Amino acid sequence: MTTSRILLQARQIEARVAQVAKEIDKHYDGEEFILLVVLKGAMVFASDLMRQIRSPFQLEFAQSRTYGNSTSPERAPEVIGPDLEKISDKHVLVVDDILDTGATFLALKDWLLEREALSVRGCFLLDKPHRRDAAIKPDFFGFQVPDVFVVGYGLDHAEKYRNLPHVAQLPEPAE
Ligand code: IMP
Ligand code: MG
Repeated sequence: MTTSRILLQARQIEARVAQVAKEIDKHYDGEEFILLVVLKGAMVFASDLMRQIRSPFQLEFAQSRTYGNSTSPERAPEVIGPDLEKISDKHVLVVDDILDTGATFLALKDWLLEREALSVRGCFLLDKPHRRDAAIKPDFFGFQVPDVFVVGYGLDHAEKYRNLPHVAQLPEPAE
């Protein structure tokens, strides 16, 4: 990873995460919500973010897997989330590492609304708008990134690089 381009330094991320937490506090205004972390990529972001949030929340986890041909725009992510009683009549804040095509967030949102969530908002460390299929925008986000594959601060490539303290562009394979 020595030749990779660092897009976001650890200190930059730390400062922005604190601002995003303030935006979240302002939005919920002391009202309780479910902070739903999408595994595995959002783990690092969520663990820093939640320690800056002052509103009361309950921590829950969800998993999303994309099945089938991953280059197909019709791919439908399969969602595994908390039990119905944890969701119904609750405000839910989905926390994920990156909003890319939007398919994962849309699938999760539908899944949560089917289980009678009161509201569903999305918070993402990164917003990569270039490949967005759906007309969705993040409710909260840290940084916009260009249309490149990024790793670090929880984001992986083939399960590697999650432990980098910064966000970097994945190095191109050697010719
Ligand atoms: P979406 O469903 O296309 O919005 O994709 C969201 C998921 O794709 C994220 O939660 C990531 O797991 C993965 N993803 C998309 N872009 C990147 C990237 O640049 N690096 C690492 N993972 C990515
Ligand atoms: Mg992910």
